[in-house]
Amino acid sequence: EKGGYEHFMLKEIHEQPKAVQDTIGAYVHEGAIDFSETGLSDEIFAGLKRVYIVACGSAYHVGIAGRYVMESLAGIPVEVDLASEFRYRDPILEPDSLVVVISQSGETADSLAALRLAKEKGHPVLGVVNVVGSSIARESDYILYTYAGPEISVATTKAYSTQLIAMYLLAVQAAKIKGKIDDERYAGLLAEMGTLPEKIQKTLDDKERIQWFASKYANAKDIFFIGRGIDYAISMEGSLKMKEISYIHSEAYAAGELKHGTISLVEDGILVVGVLTQSALFEKTLSNMVEVKSRGAYLMGLTTYGNYNIEDTADFSVYVPKTDEYFTTSLAIVPLQLMGYYVSVAKGLDVDKPRNLAKSVTVE
Ligand code: F6R
Repeated sequence: EKGGYEHFMLKEIHEQPKAVQDTIGAYVHEGAIDFSETGLSDEIFAGLKRVYIVACGSAYHVGIAGRYVMESLAGIPVEVDLASEFRYRDPILEPDSLVVVISQSGETADSLAALRLAKEKGHPVLGVVNVVGSSIARESDYILYTYAGPEISVATTKAYSTQLIAMYLLAVQAAKIKGKIDDERYAGLLAEMGTLPEKIQKTLDDKERIQWFASKYANAKDIFFIGRGIDYAISMEGSLKMKEISYIHSEAYAAGELKHGTISLVEDGILVVGVLTQSALFEKTLSNMVEVKSRGAYLMGLTTYGNYNIEDTADFSVYVPKTDEYFTTSLAIVPLQLMGYYVSVAKGLDVDKPRNLAKSVTVE
């Protein structure tokens, strides 16, 4: 059942090219996005003034990445909330807005409660859900299924990757209908999205280097992940993967926030992972890496092929293929998933069933 892999998590990490392919294939037909299966019409996108994304855990991190893409590409203001906060803060929802609930299981108690609250307030809800027929799928007004297939490992990987695709599709479709991008850009974005499965595969093919590095850092006490913009969203997910299965304390910081307090924790030998996939922010994050290095941090840099000057600063560098910068999250997350996985294996932990965690959190 593990298909020759030692753990479900490693199997599911390797299923990502197919999961992403299947999710794109479900909604992109003959060079155009077709949302007829979801119930979302062009009129909904045309009149859309605001999007509220609500989710928990990794799905929340997808929402943070989705916000950058939707705001920048489609010009729609997006708020992202943890479901457990949203449901208790009496949120003010503006007219002509869409509430998007992201959930792999479709059974997460807080996400379901957030969905019900939004509906009570008279707002339509789009569920981005992996499990067909689950509670969130049944109660949503519109439903965009992800096609990751069954996910067994408690730590999500392939479902996360398909949720990202859902965000890209929503952003590209909204951008097109709102006239923010022309036909050429639209076609170019969809073509680039279509290359993600093979680029994820290419990233997976480099896994031995990550395995080597992970075994070297398996005894780390603290790890910091830093990035800006979309790279901050990737950092949050990389940090969660690390802590939940390897039990190493880790934190994700918006790189610019470090000097507002956290940098005092940086001392000799601490591992800092810098994520730098966005060219406009590359130099900024690099300068934060220089700062932590001068305080003794050991640096891993994660960037795209071509940015070889990162090696002047980073002690260990990992490269992922270039793609449209809106989509790099899909590639950059892979080495971080692998890192969490291999640290957990090196420590002899129960990778697929980490302590205290359940696959589906049906109580609040
Ligand atoms: C982390 C992880 C969790 C889930 C969260 C939401 O690897 O899997 O953080 O993302 O519990 O679960 P769903 O998506 O089922 O609502």
